Amino acid sequence: MKSEETLLLRVVRSERAERVPMWMMRQAGRYLPEYRAIRKDRSMLQMVQTPEVAAEVTLQPLKRFPLDAAIIFADILTPLIGMGVSLDFVAGEGPQLAPHIRTQADVDRLSLPHPSESVGYTLDAIRIVSRELAGKTPLFGFSGAPFTLSCYLIEGGSPGDAANVKRMMYSAPAVWHSLQDKLSQLVIEYLVAQVEAGADLLQLFDSWLGLLGPSDYKEYVEPYLLRIIDEVKARVSVPLIFFGTSTGGLFPQLSKLNADAFGVDWRLSLPDAETRLGRKIPLQGNLDPLLLCYGTWEKIRPEAERILNEGRGLAGHIFNLGHGILQETPIDNVERLVDFVRNFKA
Ligand code: CP3
Repeated sequence: MKSEETLLLRVVRSERAERVPMWMMRQAGRYLPEYRAIRKDRSMLQMVQTPEVAAEVTLQPLKRFPLDAAIIFADILTPLIGMGVSLDFVAGEGPQLAPHIRTQADVDRLSLPHPSESVGYTLDAIRIVSRELAGKTPLFGFSGAPFTLSCYLIEGGSPGDAANVKRMMYSAPAVWHSLQDKLSQLVIEYLVAQVEAGADLLQLFDSWLGLLGPSDYKEYVEPYLLRIIDEVKARVSVPLIFFGTSTGGLFPQLSKLNADAFGVDWRLSLPDAETRLGRKIPLQGNLDPLLLCYGTWEKIRPEAERILNEGRGLAGHIFNLGHGILQETPIDNVERLVDFVRNFKA
């Protein structure tokens, strides 16, 4: 079967489907014993930077569950290393980046190498996985979006309330805009390179976008998202899904983006998301990952069923969690969920 014909690609193009496709954000990760076995002797970065290992880990969840997509094992922060930033994942503390980017001189020092030089390992991993999947299951490439990448660059780690990010926006807007311009170039080239290496579709993660209100979104973020999505879609012809969390208040504006589908977290129902977008477009989501982690199947099932029923009226529905799967999630819950979604008649 050609990859253009797979279920998920049809749904993202608003075509009719016999069932609801499903994948999970962070589906390759620490909730899987086979991931932990490989991780035991290596750091997260070593795994990402060794194409054979990244490829193997990408395929692990597909060997265990009949999922409808793979997502390449990398991180939104790895492309920043090539800009001259040091990145470390510190157990219990999350990602740590240095130096913090705060001034125009800091922005000017960030370099923009071609992705084949800076993240060649991820492009190689895509080539391996793409060959293995042979078009039977589509492979996602992905990137962080400039706002979320800026949060990590400016704050040096998870942004909290993003005080330094907003300080730059409000007190040094020219610095902010030059940083966004540079990151937009990085993101465009990275996404295009992933498709050229074999990715079948793309997801753009703007995980922290919900920290902004509508006016700030419009002034400081929207021009760059418009530009990235338009330019990527002009250069490569694969679908692109836009994902953020806590972005309910921004949905009317996000609607202007030329994405093929939007990810929705659990805070907003799928029909409410569609109403706020004001148009028919496929949606992806939106089970609370904490429910999948801590709920019994008796609690998880009715929620999954509600989401699937709500998905019926949409232009298209890709089942996913509202955010990444948690490390403590019981495999049994995942197995039952995948089975339930797979057997639900669309
Ligand atoms: O989804 C997938 O399976 C593909 C791989 C993937 C990872 N990170 C692997 C990873 C993807 C798509 C991401 C995206 C990512 N990374 C985002 C956007 C999506 C989101 O969750 O909001 C963000 C904000 C990051 C930054 C990041 N990377 C954080 C906050 C952490 C957790 C830090 C920690 O110590 O737990 C990471 C690390 C990370 N990225 C892990 C994985 C599997 C855990 C690595 C490990 O220690 O084994």
